[in-house]
Amino acid sequence: MKDNLAICPGSFDPVTIGHLDIISRSAKMFGKVIVVVMTNPNKSSGSFTVEERVEMLKKAVADIPNVEVDHYGGLLADYAARKNAKAIIKGLRAVTDFEYEFQMALANKKMNPSVETLFLTTSAENMYLSSSMIKQIAALGGDISDFVPAVIHNDIVNRLKKG
Ligand code: PNS
Repeated sequence: MKDNLAICPGSFDPVTIGHLDIISRSAKMFGKVIVVVMTNPNKSSGSFTVEERVEMLKKAVADIPNVEVDHYGGLLADYAARKNAKAIIKGLRAVTDFEYEFQMALANKKMNPSVETLFLTTSAENMYLSSSMIKQIAALGGDISDFVPAVIHNDIVNRLKKG
């Protein structure tokens, strides 16, 4: 797998330590990993712009040499084909994630048969984490320092205070 490219797609609104855990574990298995900020049609437009999410991700992965950050407004299956990716990697937190993720994996496989979706089990300590929960805590003045990469903690807090 070391010669192959994997994609870690997501909304990353914003990136959490749960995402970072999945990204860094993926980077240990694949030669190169592209983290790609995408649109989830089931979520509202988000709290951070795509540019802000990309910038925060770049800071968060700066010390992982084989990880790049990108964004794409189209289909994940098309992006994977363009990049000749071998795998799409998603983190699974709980059974509740599974049905939707399974459906997406099957649709992506149908649209791009040459890419496999791999699911990594989230680390136990991150099971409860979500970007939306973190935004809610930060907006109400709570401490999010255990939930987000330290290097972007202030960006998130300042931005959500302003917003
Ligand atoms: O972090 P999320 O919100 O769970 O990520 C979901 C995401 C953005 C990866 C998913 O919605 C997606 O792949 N969006 C791109 C558009 C697309 O390909 N849709 C069809 C998926 S079957």
